[in-house]
Amino acid sequence: MSSKLLIIGACGQIGTELTTKLREIHGTDNVIASDINTRNLDLVNSGPFEIIDAKNFNAIKDCCINHKIDTIYLMAALLSATGEKYPMEAWDLNMNSLFHVLNLAKTGVIKKIFWPSSIAVFGPTTPKTQTPQHTICEPTTVYGITKQVGERWCEYYHEKYGVDVRSIRYPGIISHKAMPGGGTTDYAVEIYHEALKHKSYTCFLSENTSLPMMFMDDAIKATTELMAAPSNHLTIRSSYNLSAISFTPQDIYESIKAHIPEFTITYQPDFRQAIADSWPSSIDDSVARNDWNWQHDFDLDAMTHEMLTNLRNK
Ligand code: SER
Repeated sequence: MSSKLLIIGACGQIGTELTTKLREIHGTDNVIASDINTRNLDLVNSGPFEIIDAKNFNAIKDCCINHKIDTIYLMAALLSATGEKYPMEAWDLNMNSLFHVLNLAKTGVIKKIFWPSSIAVFGPTTPKTQTPQHTICEPTTVYGITKQVGERWCEYYHEKYGVDVRSIRYPGIISHKAMPGGGTTDYAVEIYHEALKHKSYTCFLSENTSLPMMFMDDAIKATTELMAAPSNHLTIRSSYNLSAISFTPQDIYESIKAHIPEFTITYQPDFRQAIADSWPSSIDDSVARNDWNWQHDFDLDAMTHEMLTNLRNK
């Protein structure tokens, strides 16, 4: 029997491209996309779609039963910058949606879960370079706290109840389809749009702020490969470190300037600088590389080429 999948938060930056990829792999009708509203009409019209509030347990459960769903990808979340503005909302959405899907797996309604964590689980006391898989995690953002606690619950549900939950600590994700919303790493997407539109960009992080980043195609590849990996190969049931590239705003500016010589940048760090400063600049993902053969494809210049080519064609 073919697998039936539900994606919660399918209209978001990652959900949009994950839905497309999962439909290629499993067939359009086997992938139910859902979101709290229909903000992304291309996605909504691309196959089965349902309006689901990730905080509503019964809505998720009914959808799973009606469509005989066996796997949920829970992509809905309030990210780091928005979470600082709405702390209780971030806690409510990020934690309760996770409990809902964990409990659906615990009670046998579904079999498998993908839940993204983030580099935001790390904090100022974490080793900053080549951050190990197992290390100090004292996050200073609400978003980071929800992801760190969520990781503990994932591992707990796996150990105590045998729930097959899999997770990745995504770095900043750069893509040209749906815009990111409310993250500290969003500058690395905005900069491409502004370089093409206005030939200038004012960056909300300072020029030497190095952060772990990844092109969307690599993030989607990692997600589908982790979900396809044999369960007994996986040694991490909290969340895997995952790394591709690290760069600063100045690095990405220079990579774009090679294509658009008149492009200029200025720096006006805001409250997001403190968040960025609390995160690592590079990640050791050797456990993911060993357990399920993770490898990234895109470096900074390959990503810049893809971003500019695709955005120009829009
Ligand atoms: N991109 C996210 C953020 O900036 C990190 O997971 O909040």
